[in-house]
Amino acid sequence: MKVVTTIAEMQHVRSTFGADTLGFVPTMGYLHAGHLSLVRYSVAENMRSVVSIFVNPTQFGPGEDLARYPRDLERDLALLSPLGLDCVFVPAVNEMYPSAPGPSTVVTVHGPTECLEGSMRPGHFAGVATVVAKLFNIIRPTRAYFGQKDAQQVAVITKMVDDLNFPLRVVVCPTVREADGLAMSSRNVFLTPTDRETAKLISCGLFAAAALWQAGERKAAVLEAAVHESLRQGSFIAIDYVAVVDPLTFDPYTSGSSAALIAVAARVGATRLIDNILLSRAAPV
Ligand code: PAJ
Repeated sequence: MKVVTTIAEMQHVRSTFGADTLGFVPTMGYLHAGHLSLVRYSVAENMRSVVSIFVNPTQFGPGEDLARYPRDLERDLALLSPLGLDCVFVPAVNEMYPSAPGPSTVVTVHGPTECLEGSMRPGHFAGVATVVAKLFNIIRPTRAYFGQKDAQQVAVITKMVDDLNFPLRVVVCPTVREADGLAMSSRNVFLTPTDRETAKLISCGLFAAAALWQAGERKAAVLEAAVHESLRQGSFIAIDYVAVVDPLTFDPYTSGSSAALIAVAARVGATRLIDNILLSRAAPV
């Protein structure tokens, strides 16, 4: 497993892969079982695989947790090395953005960026879309792997790939959860033991809403109320949103659609967590 830090070397390594299929998993590191599941899909489905580790400053807002975002490259590389990857791309900030503080060219995806995470975190999705577009151009993957955990990010990247004709397939992988249902996240490391107890109420609420959907409930207000009811049991939990939306466009859900997604963002202590569950006639993911 080659560890590469410059764009020029990454492009050279990529050229040696020739026409082999290439899977790509972009990450910000501090890897957990959710990230590793994406890597396993990539390795299983492609002749070559590349993971990137880059804490992208342009997707963090001014008051957000860029400085304290957890980082441990040595640990990440140790977790990745048994998985059969070809290369890990770990660029420095000035390698990706030589003209500080960021690029002059920015990818703005209208539509799915205009609500929920997009409204709560202005500029976040422009930062995500721009860095992912750069990474796609550098690595030129056949398939790129993203987690359902960040469902709105999936909607944004899928739209960007479609609109800008990136010659690759976006593969969406299921959310990996702790035994009690909490969605794995690099930010879970910030949760105190009390926060950790409270945090599980998020997935409990989502599972309750999914059970209602399975039983035939289609009213967004009733599904959202089930999540609120679970969250109300926690102290020190501040809800940013609970919303039933169309999983592709992130427009509000209209009864009659066969698929929906219920998304939650909440602050538990000092940590902001997001989670969601896909609702459909089949079993929820
Ligand atoms: P990061 O938060 O590190 O996540 C990298 C990938 O892992 C994303 O596709 C995310 O959805 C997926 N992931 C995170 N937790 C998961 C879980 N519990 N189960 C399954 N997949 C999970 O998302 C980013 O980084 C960045 O925005 C990035 C795309 C790298 C651009 O900077």
